Amino acid sequence: MTLLTINRSKKNTVSVTPARRLHGEIELPGDKSIAHRAAIIATLAKGESLIENFPDAEDPQATVTCLTKLGIEYEYVGKTLWLQSKGINFLEEYDKPLNAMNSGTTMRLLAGLLSGQPFSTIITGDESLLERPMRRIIKPLKMMNAYISASRRGTGPLKIRGRKNPLKNIRYELPVASAQVKSAILLAGLYAYGTTTVIESVPTRDHTERMLGLPVKNYGGKNYITIDKSFRFPPVRMVIPGDPSTAAFFIVAALITPDSELVIKNCSLNPTRIAFLSVLGKMGAKIHVFNKRNPDGEPIGDIRVYTSALRGVTVAGSQIPLIIDEIPILAIAGATSDSYFEVKDARELRYKESDRIHSVVTTLRAMGIEVKEYDDGFVLRGGRLRGGATVDSFGDHRVAMASVIGGLAADSELTVRNIQAVSVSFPDFLNTIQSIIHNN
Ligand code: S3P
Repeated sequence: MTLLTINRSKKNTVSVTPARRLHGEIELPGDKSIAHRAAIIATLAKGESLIENFPDAEDPQATVTCLTKLGIEYEYVGKTLWLQSKGINFLEEYDKPLNAMNSGTTMRLLAGLLSGQPFSTIITGDESLLERPMRRIIKPLKMMNAYISASRRGTGPLKIRGRKNPLKNIRYELPVASAQVKSAILLAGLYAYGTTTVIESVPTRDHTERMLGLPVKNYGGKNYITIDKSFRFPPVRMVIPGDPSTAAFFIVAALITPDSELVIKNCSLNPTRIAFLSVLGKMGAKIHVFNKRNPDGEPIGDIRVYTSALRGVTVAGSQIPLIIDEIPILAIAGATSDSYFEVKDARELRYKESDRIHSVVTTLRAMGIEVKEYDDGFVLRGGRLRGGATVDSFGDHRVAMASVIGGLAADSELTVRNIQAVSVSFPDFLNTIQSIIHNN
């Protein structure tokens, strides 16, 4: 008999009781980063795009809603999103602010795209998004002659004034390792004279260049990605692979719950997204990747995980951008290890959906783990995750999911408040967890 271990008695709060074992085979929603880009590329390509396995998560849905305000027609047939566009130079003006909701990717990528339009736009978002730094895109977009401004603190709403002439091309080395900044500049480059070059000395997720088919050269250890105004691409026809950042929660859940075995099918294996698997491998995780293939230009495969005894590691430097979204759940894995788990050079975590250094440290301390906070990370001593506590999601989907997983491996019941935040990337998270819990 499977017991109901997650009870949702109070709205927006969940009580998680320790799980005896996890078992099953699951498939996760389409990758969020790929989904944003697929919808944007479909908007820029003249004709009909068909994007299968489009996630019903709030973030990518925010992108689609914004794009439909700009004159793109759309229809959902089950999990397939059909989009019809008149092409790159036929976006339409919308006289109200576009709402990116909680999604930094939506705000930053659309800012790049809209900087080159002949009409003006305002992009706004929720309270958390309006706290996040936007100067990182404003600076290069202004260098391209975009008329873009933010609040005095450098946060949204963003105001973008329309322009008659094309933007100016730039050659820009990223001062922060950010795929969102890289993508915003590349999208603006489609509306600029000459060739725009983005240089990254530390690799970040490469979906934009991969999906657009852009030339990428590597000289002296740096990536040079180029785009220009004449660049055109066909409508999008793809099946979005499962989101590896979501898979990370389930992988760690199976690793730290006794007697577990879990298979995750059709998960993205894009090398810029699965560095967390190598980190877990170094921690002693038993993970087997199989059935690898490459159907739509994005590598994909299945992942089998077994319960494992974990040891602590240090993650730092150029590893960080490639595991940035997985650090909250890696911290939970580290908290069950037999030694120290340390994160350094990760100040960027302070600018995510919440200040993730603060939210992770607070959550772990509430669960009885000794943690020292650094300005750019933290170090914790692995041990026993204690239940009997109430923790908060800080309105952050990844902190919410990491806390629930921690609760499954804790020694008694854990209460997680503001669980609704999971809808930003995985509305069905609790049901999916529930489906793999076996307490008999
Ligand atoms: C994303 C890039 C990352 C990541 C975010 C999604 C993307 O942000 O944290 O969840 O889709 O480009 P940065 O590139 O700003 O680090």
